[in-house]
Amino acid sequence: MDEKGNMKTAPVDGIGQSLKNKAENINGLLAGFLPKEGGEQATVISSVNYSVNAGGKRLRPILLIETNILCGGGGMEDPLVAAFAAAIEMIHTYSLIHDDLPAMDNDMYRRGKLTTHAKYGEAMGILAGDALLNLAFETASSALAKEGEPKRVLAGAKALSILSVKSGLWGMLGGQSVDVEKTGQSLKEGTLDFIYRLKTGALLEAAVMVGGVLAGIKEEEVKLLENMGGAIGMAFQIQDDILDVTGNDEVLGKPTHSDEKNNKTTYVTMHSVEEAKEAVKQLTGEAVRILLKFDKKRGRDANFLIGLVELLSERES
Ligand code: IPE
Ligand code: IPE
Ligand code: MG
Ligand code: MG
Ligand code: MG
Repeated sequence: MDEKGNMKTAPVDGIGQSLKNKAENINGLLAGFLPKEGGEQATVISSVNYSVNAGGKRLRPILLIETNILCGGGGMEDPLVAAFAAAIEMIHTYSLIHDDLPAMDNDMYRRGKLTTHAKYGEAMGILAGDALLNLAFETASSALAKEGEPKRVLAGAKALSILSVKSGLWGMLGGQSVDVEKTGQSLKEGTLDFIYRLKTGALLEAAVMVGGVLAGIKEEEVKLLENMGGAIGMAFQIQDDILDVTGNDEVLGKPTHSDEKNNKTTYVTMHSVEEAKEAVKQLTGEAVRILLKFDKKRGRDANFLIGLVELLSERES
């Protein structure tokens, strides 16, 4: 905002364009790791490829790569960073396929297309999700197995540990399990906070932590990045709740009012759209403050990530 309260659209447009290019680069990267169509298991392979190629913002791999560059790493040029970036998007896509299943949110559209179960059937949806989770760890661990330098091997092992912890019981899956278990119930603020920190926050924490760890940063800085990812994640889920009420199906690429249909308690039902917007602003400020600690330190430049985090707080898709 400028001093008159007008939005500064030019820089945001600039970031928007460069985000599009970066998402295209991720699409190219993913293509190299996806299975070839055909063979006896052709149907599950085709449902895996359909789900990943349906699109999406590619936010997690972009955050991983950009944080790696911020911390002095080689970004996508580094094969280990590239493999982890592809892996985190595979895990994210698996989480969406399962989130849309009839037993969970029962949604028919995702990324502007039919959901995986709606197109390939429920069994293939379950299997495609499982396949992507395995493919993610196959992708990351195979890249790690090619490393010989002890420091890089250790960094890669730490990154694998972060990715697995943040995806499973102690992260995304744990959050999703409490989310579905408590559907239809009124929740305490602390429970909603727990669900959001895990179901959405954990994978965003993993993205920035893995980026930092693969650049060889110290533990204290990894902790700072974890806090930053947590703030981005919380803001991201609250914005997702807002868009479920105020958004547009076509722009979002998924149905609005899914939460209402499922009788979910969300940040918006617990508070109001106005309070939710205020929370997104506050959390975005927290993330930016942490990024500023990295900025200008040892020649680092956090401008792109600051712009990205601010753009996310105003996103409509
Ligand atoms: C959707 O994630 C699920 C949430 C955590 C709210 P994204 O909004 O990043 O989905 P895509 O990858 O762009 O489709
Ligand atoms: C986040 O919650 C889902 C995951 C962690 C996969 P939602 O259920 O609100 O996500 P959308 O709105 O379906 O993308
Ligand atoms: Mg859900
Ligand atoms: Mg959902
Ligand atoms: Mg949602």
